[in-house]
Amino acid sequence: MASSASAPRGLGKAILLGEHSVVYGHEAIAGAIEMGVECRAEPAEGNRLVIPAWDIDLREDEDHKVAKAFAALLSASGCNEPQIFHCETDLPAAAGLGSSAALCVALARCLAPTLDTDGVQELASVGEMQFHDTPSGIDVALSATGGIGSYSKADGLKLVDCPPLPIVIGLSGVERSTAAMVAGVASRMSESSTKACISTLGNLAILGHAALCEGDMASLGELMNESHRCLGKLGVSTRELDAMVRASHLAGALGAKLTGAGGGGAMIALAPGNEEKVAARLSQLGYTSIITTLGAQQ
Ligand code: MEV
Repeated sequence: MASSASAPRGLGKAILLGEHSVVYGHEAIAGAIEMGVECRAEPAEGNRLVIPAWDIDLREDEDHKVAKAFAALLSASGCNEPQIFHCETDLPAAAGLGSSAALCVALARCLAPTLDTDGVQELASVGEMQFHDTPSGIDVALSATGGIGSYSKADGLKLVDCPPLPIVIGLSGVERSTAAMVAGVASRMSESSTKACISTLGNLAILGHAALCEGDMASLGELMNESHRCLGKLGVSTRELDAMVRASHLAGALGAKLTGAGGGGAMIALAPGNEEKVAARLSQLGYTSIITTLGAQQ
């Protein structure tokens, strides 16, 4: 999203490698994207949150998960002046691109403009917890910081010094809940096949980190392909996501995989020089495609 003059904003993100395993302490590789949420506030009689793009207009005491996150942020910020918060966004909601984190970061920046990036992350996480019971923190970290890097719960976000990475995003059009997908994987963690998938996904992210640092796109693409197969075994891919991954390969992508929690949402393709072809193929099949770069700056 084009940043309008100084509007507090949070960026969306796409995970290259390591979704789900990052919840269990493994490293993941991800980047911020040029789509996000911008927020402006003005004094009002009561607190209200308005997000026309997501059909949201609510007060903090309503029985709605966005209202609960809004209420948690208002209370944690200690801000006592009633305000109406107007948010603009080009991020699709519930699509695996970090929309809830981007909203919480934009609201945190609006509520507490003097906070540094760590403070924004801490405050935004209070809201993000209302959306996702046990978030790894990767979405909020990238949303607040921008860039591209590796993330683990223990070490936080470590930016990688590499050029922005062009990718194609394909939207399945199926909304899903990250919390429900993460809970589904957790309920299968006693099975040895699930444990093995989580550890493979973590190892692929470590290899991906090295490939990214070396600019080795062929290896990065192959690791993404392997990761998608593994996420399928984990039970989080769908017919639409698999179809978009196959179509991306046929249109010349080096790598393609679902991104985020799966169960619907989005996929990404790495297709240096073939981005237009991949995007056109996905559109022909009826999916929304977006060409963007990983590594957007705040
Ligand atoms: C969220 O974008 C990706 C997951 O790994 C959940 C998380 O890290 O909190 C599925």
